Amino acid sequence: MRFLRRVIKLKTLCLSCTVLTLLILFLGTMAALLPAANEQTILSVRREMTLSATSPKGTFTLIMQTYNRTDLLLKMLNHYQAMPGLSHVIVVWNNVGQEPPQDVWKSFGPHPVPVTFKKQSTNLMRNRLQRFSEIKTEAVLMMDDDTLVSAYDVSFAFSIWQEFPDRIAGFVPRKHVLSPSGVYSYGSFELKAPHTESGDMYSMILIGAAFFHRDYLQLFEQLPVSIHNMIDQTQNCDDIAINFIVANHTRKSSGVLVKPTDMRNLEKEAGSGYTGMWHRAEHLLQRSYCLNRLAQIYGTMPLKYSSIMISQFGFPNYANHKSKI
Ligand SMILES: *[C@@H]1O[C@H](CO)[C@@H](O)[C@H](O)[C@H]1NC(C)=O
Ligand SMILES: *[C@@H]1O[C@H](CO)[C@@H](O)[C@H](O)[C@H]1NC(C)=O
Repeated sequence: MRFLRRVIKLKTLCLSCTVLTLLILFLGTMAALLPAANEQTILSVRREMTLSATSPKGTFTLIMQTYNRTDLLLKMLNHYQAMPGLSHVIVVWNNVGQEPPQDVWKSFGPHPVPVTFKKQSTNLMRNRLQRFSEIKTEAVLMMDDDTLVSAYDVSFAFSIWQEFPDRIAGFVPRKHVLSPSGVYSYGSFELKAPHTESGDMYSMILIGAAFFHRDYLQLFEQLPVSIHNMIDQTQNCDDIAINFIVANHTRKSSGVLVKPTDMRNLEKEAGSGYTGMWHRAEHLLQRSYCLNRLAQIYGTMPLKYSSIMISQFGFPNYANHKSKI
């Protein structure tokens, strides 16, 4: 410290002086100090690194909503404990009247990342989209309780979200399609062989496996009550509403598609007899209904198409056969 002060003193002196000898003396002192100066730099670089790793920008909060499949939930919690950058897990406990498995979870411990169970008083789809006070990070990772994504994919998607913090960065794309009669319908996104047809477009990224900014939770809470009612009546479409919010807010496409290398749906392993609603035809009809209702409430269609797909290893973006994701 004292050394440093002397350098600073010398520096000031030198700046004001006109005598050449003093300059030479100063340069000599500087040279002698070089190793010390280097160490200082290394130290400050190190300090910056730890800061960014613990600051809200470098970490994220996982939100997972669960209903009627606690075995699977515990497996998932175990899996996601290992994620680099994960600072807190919030489990939205939709099993009304049932106690969360806090003790079971603790008995598996110790766990490096804290898990908070948030007991809900009603089993609502949109419970997961609350601005929980435990969310201290800007980034929120939302995951369905039956979706397993590799740590590698999560880390990569997080780095993409950091590049596009106002968008939804996730793994599951969907699109809206306007029929000639002016009605929107909901559809999937297809990868196509690059030389036969042009690539497909998407206009939504589902939040069952996605990063987005916590501020959108606040915008969700402030939505017109007619939208909350629509979501509660259908017990569906909260993710479509989030895409409308982001697209309306940014005036750009709501999401960035990250192609996962290892993502699995473990619904069949749930063993609870409860299968998600995702395969029912009614579910798709509801989602088309929601698209039209939302466009009506917004007075416009804010969703925009994108064809950007980011993949990790520089593999060709389009598989050599047709597949659905
Ligand atoms: C919840 O799980 C139990 C089995 O653990 C099953 O009998 C029941 O039907 C499930 N409830 C719903 C609403 O799916
Ligand atoms: C869409 O964005 C505009 C401008 O930012 C805002 O005034 C409007 O309230 C938003 N619409 C809804 C339904 O939130």
